[in-house]
Amino acid sequence: MMQIFKDKVVFITGTNRGIGKSLVKEVLNKGAIKVYATSRDLSKLPNFNDDRVIPLKLDITNDIEIEHCAEKAFDTQILINNAGVLSQGNVLEGSIDNMKYDMNINYYGTINMMRAFAPILEKNTPAKIINIVSIAAYSSLPFIAGYAASKAALFSATQSVRIELAKKGITVHAINPGAIDTDMNKGSDWDMTSPNDVAKSILNKVEMGVLDIIPDDMGLGMYNAWREDPENLAKIFHDMYYQI
Ligand SMILES: NC(=O)c1ccc[n+]([C@@H]2O[C@H](COP(=O)([O-])OP(=O)(O)OC[C@H]3O[C@@H](n4cnc5c(N)ncnc54)[C@H](OP(=O)(O)O)[C@@H]3O)[C@@H](O)[C@H]2O)c1
Repeated sequence: MMQIFKDKVVFITGTNRGIGKSLVKEVLNKGAIKVYATSRDLSKLPNFNDDRVIPLKLDITNDIEIEHCAEKAFDTQILINNAGVLSQGNVLEGSIDNMKYDMNINYYGTINMMRAFAPILEKNTPAKIINIVSIAAYSSLPFIAGYAASKAALFSATQSVRIELAKKGITVHAINPGAIDTDMNKGSDWDMTSPNDVAKSILNKVEMGVLDIIPDDMGLGMYNAWREDPENLAKIFHDMYYQI
């Protein structure tokens, strides 16, 4: 296994909690030389107790903050786009504002991060973009239809950018988790992978060179169902929707 993160400069979005916070810790464990740990509210950032961590304020929908981060973090070699939101609501009755909110952050926000950092990564090759997408990119669960659409859009953009950057020394990975035990799934009684374990799994699979990564057991079950026949995953989501 290659030591992809050792002595590397890593930039991660949404690191004040959940998967992003665990990714910071695991990237440090793997020997990163510097980690830009970003959050839209710096007062919420945990104390990572490590001199290699550089906190930066970043809301990924704020162009000025993105530009400021790109200036400060000009030495970034690995960009991890983790920040994301999940709103409830189906297509026919859900709030359009909620759909726009998810699309704005998960899709356009992440696209703007990739646009701002691609020229930086190009100067610091071999480089990587790692986008945290979702298994919902493969098939929609109507409870969270706007979220699923935003992640399907992000998955598409990730595949496009993978090809756009293929000859520039930048490898693009898509991470499609099932369900992870973070605030995003508060109140759910599923048996979920912890954020620390999922962060370890994501980084290990990146080091193995996997491009499309399913990092958790629930995600793998859903992905394997989809691989056998896309209708199988649609059926799982149908049964969840009707609580069969
Ligand atoms: N948990 C799951 O089951 C699961 C499954 C598949 C994919 N994912 C994806 O994994 C990623 C991390 O999710 P999580 O489970 O760790 O959720 P989480 O605990 O809710 O954390 C989300 C993080 O994103 C940040 N964020 C939200 N909007 C932002 C913005 N506009 N600019 C910058 N940061 C922003 C949040 O910051 P604030 O604290 O300021 O809100 C928070 O740090 C997301 O992209 C999510 O869609 C999660």
